[in-house]
Amino acid sequence: MTNILTKLPVIILISGSGSNLQAIIDQTNAGFLPIQVQLVISNEPTAYGIQRAQQVGIATQILEHRNFTTRQAYDNALLELIAPYDPELIVLAGFMRILTSNFVARYQGRMLNIHPSLLPKYPGLNTHARVLAAGDTVHGASVHFVTEMLDGGPIIIQAEVPVMPDDSPETLAARVLVKEHLIYPQAIKWFAEGRLALASQGVLLDKQLLTRPVIWS
Ligand code: GRF
Repeated sequence: MTNILTKLPVIILISGSGSNLQAIIDQTNAGFLPIQVQLVISNEPTAYGIQRAQQVGIATQILEHRNFTTRQAYDNALLELIAPYDPELIVLAGFMRILTSNFVARYQGRMLNIHPSLLPKYPGLNTHARVLAAGDTVHGASVHFVTEMLDGGPIIIQAEVPVMPDDSPETLAARVLVKEHLIYPQAIKWFAEGRLALASQGVLLDKQLLTRPVIWS
């Protein structure tokens, strides 16, 4: 059992830019997050997030999905890569792959994801363009526990942003990302401090069942 005096061992999975990874690194170095990032794994060899990790001396591994013929084989390799580290938490930070049930079951209740929409609206890809096409006036981001349902696990915290009339998917994405960098460290902090858990009924924060996600304000 990890308490607030020890640092929670964490592995972070990425596929791209790694700006959420950067926010987590920054908040760890600032003392906000009582975690130790043991390893950053990317399925994409060119992911800029790998450089971000290396710049601060965090171990990195590339596990390229193209080298595997099945999703199951890839996830088995991922499980083997992670197992020796024995992490307490897996953080999906822009990891653009669907994980198999076997993997999800192994880390059930100990794996978080961030998604650029106000879930349960807009699971899946291209959320910003879909928000604009629908004419929504409010958009945002969600941090949730990972379950077998894609982007469907119990939601912990959300942040909202306004949608402006002249927004493009890019301007909207940038506005959402600013909020992502706030709510992901917050959720990870709660988990690292032992305040956050996944129960059969949903998310427990300070032993209270959340009837709705926390809204960042
Ligand atoms: C973020 O919008 C995240 O919500 C989504 O993928 C994007 C990753 O961005 N899952 P970055 O790699 O953290 O910059």
